Amino acid sequence: MNIAIIGVGLIGGSIGLAAHERLDGAFVRGFDASDAALDAALERGAIDERSDSAASAVAGAELCFVCCPVGALGEAVLEALSAGGDCAVSDVGSTKHAVLESVAAAALPEADASRFIGGHPLSGAEASGVAHARANLFEGATWYLTPTDRTSGIHYDRLYRAISALGARAAAVPADAHDRLMATVSHLPHVLANLLVHQAAGTLLEEDQALPATGPSFRDATRVAGTNPTLWRDILLTNREAIEAELGAYADALDRVRSTLRESDGDELVHWIEQARGDRQRLLELDLAGGPVSELRLSVPNKPGIVAQVALALGEAGVNIVDMALYPAPDMQSGAIALWVTGEHGAERAVELVERLGYPAAVVDAGDEA
Ligand SMILES: NC(=O)c1ccc[n+]([C@@H]2O[C@H](COP(=O)([O-])OP(=O)(O)OC[C@H]3O[C@@H](n4cnc5c(N)ncnc54)[C@H](O)[C@@H]3O)[C@@H](O)[C@H]2O)c1
Repeated sequence: MNIAIIGVGLIGGSIGLAAHERLDGAFVRGFDASDAALDAALERGAIDERSDSAASAVAGAELCFVCCPVGALGEAVLEALSAGGDCAVSDVGSTKHAVLESVAAAALPEADASRFIGGHPLSGAEASGVAHARANLFEGATWYLTPTDRTSGIHYDRLYRAISALGARAAAVPADAHDRLMATVSHLPHVLANLLVHQAAGTLLEEDQALPATGPSFRDATRVAGTNPTLWRDILLTNREAIEAELGAYADALDRVRSTLRESDGDELVHWIEQARGDRQRLLELDLAGGPVSELRLSVPNKPGIVAQVALALGEAGVNIVDMALYPAPDMQSGAIALWVTGEHGAERAVELVERLGYPAAVVDAGDEA
């Protein structure tokens, strides 16, 4: 498989290393705004060949990952799509709405726009650059995909397979839901980590005190403070509405804690802490939810957007797709999709959701294929 990587830093470099290790016959061409980054990527074996433009990296590729900072993604994705060909183009940006808007706003031919699928691997590191890239960075990680009703099923399927081969679990989610979720579980914690260290530094430096031998809680809660300022500037700006809403809710919650303290309401404090323990437990249990894998078959018309529609409906309902395969009928007018889903009642729920979309679906018994 020919792969193009635009931006060969931590994430782009890790995709290149993982592709060489896990995808048969992968040949990786890279382009980066920095010559030094390209040299380092070649030296580390993350890419096989350097290109002098995004368009030449994409020429002849089946798959392109755009891995530059969030602020540069829109332009780079459009450049990759404008190079034409049959390449499935994805990005790895930590926010999704802005890059989708760039593609929607550009007057691209439908055949080109339908080849773009937004993506975001939930794995990374505080350190940037290809020097810190690793082939196993995506092992077991969720990799969000944000298809739309324009997305071509064939290109989605190609990307989905490659991501699975890199070791990640692809999961479809609408772009806006992705950005709201990230505002809650990633962007707000980053803002808070910065605030916590600012506040501690202000207090300690003002009183000329050294940092006491703190327990792990301060270190854990501030691990990500101060990381990659320009990357985080772009993330915060491109998701500012969702983050503002999170900060508003957080400020209200802080006010409630403050008034509980002012009223010395010990019972309320105990209730509040117990509630947090229960919430944390439920969140961790959700994360561990797996269960048996079932296969289902769907009959669908062969047109753009169907795979995205199905993947998003199941993703939104919390049904986890662990694998998929497309089988176009010889007349190319219709086709079947095979999906493997996890969870105790995952298959029944998936059938119900797919039928609600108007497509026949059935669970395949292990014996059906014999
Ligand atoms: N670091 C993480 O933990 C993490 C996790 C998930 C997703 N992401 C996303 O991955 C992307 C890259 O992050 P990273 O940590 O690999 O950053 P990085 O700084 O390690 O690498 C980015 C690379 O992009 C290059 N670049 C900048 N502008 C470019 C342009 N216009 N064209 C081509 N190359 C360009 C830079 O020279 C650099 O080599 C970001 O969009 C980020 O949101 C990062």
